[in-house]
Amino acid sequence: MCGIVGVIDSKDCQKIVFEGLKKLQYRGYDSAGICLKNDKGLHTYKTKGTIDSLIKKSPEIKDAYVAIGHTRWATHGEVSEKNAHPITSLNGEWAIVHNGIIENFEELKDNLVKEGHVFKTETDSEVIASLLSLKNFKNDVENLIWATKKLKGSYAFCAMKNDKERSIFIAKNKSPLYIYCKDNTSIVASDPICFPEGEYYKMEDLEFAQVSQSEVIFYNIKGEKIIKQPITNMAVMQDVSKNGYEHFMLKEIYETPEALQNLYTNLKDYDFSKIKKWWINKVKLIGCGTAFHSCLMGARFFKKFLKIDAEAITASEFRYDYEILDSTTLCIFVSQSGETADTIAAAEKAKKFTKKIISLTNVAHSTLASISSITLPISAGPEIAVASTKAYCCQVAALYLLANAFTEKRFDKALKKIKRLSNILERFYVNLGKFAFDIAGENSIFFIGRGADYVTALEGALKLKEISYINCNAFAAGELKHGVLTLIEKETPVIVIATDKKIIEKTMNSAFEAKARGAKLYLITALPPHLVNIEKFEMCLSLPNVDKDLICVLTTIPLQLLAYNVAVMKGNNPDMPRNLAKAVTVE
Ligand code: G6P
Repeated sequence: MCGIVGVIDSKDCQKIVFEGLKKLQYRGYDSAGICLKNDKGLHTYKTKGTIDSLIKKSPEIKDAYVAIGHTRWATHGEVSEKNAHPITSLNGEWAIVHNGIIENFEELKDNLVKEGHVFKTETDSEVIASLLSLKNFKNDVENLIWATKKLKGSYAFCAMKNDKERSIFIAKNKSPLYIYCKDNTSIVASDPICFPEGEYYKMEDLEFAQVSQSEVIFYNIKGEKIIKQPITNMAVMQDVSKNGYEHFMLKEIYETPEALQNLYTNLKDYDFSKIKKWWINKVKLIGCGTAFHSCLMGARFFKKFLKIDAEAITASEFRYDYEILDSTTLCIFVSQSGETADTIAAAEKAKKFTKKIISLTNVAHSTLASISSITLPISAGPEIAVASTKAYCCQVAALYLLANAFTEKRFDKALKKIKRLSNILERFYVNLGKFAFDIAGENSIFFIGRGADYVTALEGALKLKEISYINCNAFAAGELKHGVLTLIEKETPVIVIATDKKIIEKTMNSAFEAKARGAKLYLITALPPHLVNIEKFEMCLSLPNVDKDLICVLTTIPLQLLAYNVAVMKGNNPDMPRNLAKAVTVE
């Protein structure tokens, strides 16, 4: 899983590749590389780590006219300079950058080794460079199609040849690939955010192209030329700065009230008439990671407000499990990026059974949006930090609105509540330094809650583990006694989320069972002190009492801040945690 960029430009191709790669780091940042072509041949530079390290390492090649670049999230082969892309064929004739997974690479590799190929990397991608160098067709496009036909799996790749031609050859299946070609500059990239304003082309599966400086020729798998229509670029990425904050994550947490305000503005006049006409028997909500947690919250809203059977499922499970779907099933896919491979594949599966597909995404031009019947914008604005924060809050709020959108009166009320929440949030940002200091040195932390608080506990634990690298686990409070208590030792931190008055005694019982076995308890609550036995806790964070269905948004924010503070105290970069990527575009 990775980001790829290819550029043909006589003046600035190195700069354009670097700029593009920086924007694509949300797809991974384990290693990076660039291969540049000038009249002297191909020049490749690679490094472990981010694009900034690559820029430092690469000499400026002013006369380069073609370049391909890559930012990697390792799937096959360890994170190393050797396994970084671009990868060149053994004979030095081809260089490639690849995004995706070649599923039959072992079989292809075995055959190539038998033919005398020696592999220099541990990647699946190297078979592409080897296959390209195998035959000597008169036409390079024939070569491209012949080699690609051998591949199984997902791929978007750019290949360039060690000759003097100003061309890049590209192929796509399941991984995204786009082309911009204007004013003697051509750019190929995994995301149109790399392009200037103007028109661009979207490659479809099993399409191929030869991209030159001022022309793109498209081919189908039979090698026939095809005509494609350009689309207008809506995806130009604003230059997002940290705006005085030390990290994007902190800035994004603080942007939540504004993001909720935008959601309010964008959805207040949204036309839900199509959705209202649907006959719906049950609702499935599907997502990954943080988005899955918003699905869990969303399922609660649908059950409560519509009294309908609703269930949240992680996309990777939905893809292969026994899902009972029919034309009356509403499937809601939630994805900040809209590019998560599991979520997209799950949506493709759902489409075979039902036309009632809604996606909630933060990226209007995303693949998920393009395959859904209806897309609701979550309106969070650009989210750069890997750990999702404001987008989660907007997803939960958008699902709350959607579940209330079936009657006008309800929807109006729900809208007002979102607006009020956004106002309250503006005045609610707490200092969690002491709390963070207390837990930063721990190896294991538990989060517990019931109902919506359990979902918040799951999200709090995920946030903390993602960026602090502490083993954090969340449990339904009532489940502690069914196994987890064995893990409670003297001073084990247990963070209790308790905002629901109806079941407060039950949650407290579970917390005190843990305390009786030595746990240190921390409390996040919106309930008055006499209901929560405050003296039994090391620390208690009191929240303002907002609407009971939306308090889950408010509760999440201190947990995000806690995770941020702990990560910073531990010297971790909260924006780019190890081994993760913002959008996981492979299975
Ligand atoms: C990755 C990110 C998570 C994110 C998840 C789903 O795992 O590290 O922060 O929640 O993908 O991403 P999506 O873009 O589909 O919401």
